[in-house]
Amino acid sequence: MNTRYRKTIIAGNWKMNKTLTETRAFAEELKPILGRPKWCEVVLCVPFVNLQAAGRLFKDAKVSIGAENCHYESSGAFTGEVSAEMLKDLGVKYVVIGHSERRQYYNETDFTVNKKVKAALDNGLRPIVCVGESLEQRELGVTLELITYQVKCALAGVPAEKMRHVVFAYEPIWAIGTGKTATAQEAQEVCQTIRTIIRKLYGARVARAVTIQYGGSMNAANAYELLSQPDIDGGLIGGASLKADQLVEIVNAANQE
Ligand code: PGA
Repeated sequence: MNTRYRKTIIAGNWKMNKTLTETRAFAEELKPILGRPKWCEVVLCVPFVNLQAAGRLFKDAKVSIGAENCHYESSGAFTGEVSAEMLKDLGVKYVVIGHSERRQYYNETDFTVNKKVKAALDNGLRPIVCVGESLEQRELGVTLELITYQVKCALAGVPAEKMRHVVFAYEPIWAIGTGKTATAQEAQEVCQTIRTIIRKLYGARVARAVTIQYGGSMNAANAYELLSQPDIDGGLIGGASLKADQLVEIVNAANQE
């Protein structure tokens, strides 16, 4: 973490979890124990149907709301889809783009990720762009090449002045929901590589200001060590973000750093 140049962001990714009733209960539990974190922004990315309610429920807390996906067109004949413009109009601030589950189950490609990143930015949303390698790719030794490719594709055509709104999340696929975490060194190496690519594309000032998160079985026990790394500026947290007390422990770890 480097709070001098960039914002630390702890974001929960709820995936397809929590009904409206459960979201309400979570808000009641979280608000009194969260307080007002000084050094980091707390974000909850929730299913589309609960975005509006979440906006209301967390209005009086220091929590921003994010969506988990969006379409790249602003409107049209795309049954079942939701545009970045619709999200913005609801008061949503962040949107997760290119999560590995979407790449794996819904044919998300580096090409659609790029279009979605641009749609999010054009509509004033902050994209949380997910990149990460599979276990096979790590074992083949191609992790850094793959990450370089994913980052470059995601940013094609993104102008420098919009880069301060972009967040990256390095999420090794083998660490997501498995209880296996990348070591702090492994995570740092990739997050540093992401920053180097941004530096090559946009220069040092831009690169210094971009928030790069780690995601993949981050929890209260391992958060502090991961967040102590110089290029890890927060977390994208699945499982542990579903429990208010666990999320607060991770936020506290970020505030301790
Ligand atoms: P996890 O999920 O924390 O449950 O591993 C992370 C993610 O998918 O963003």
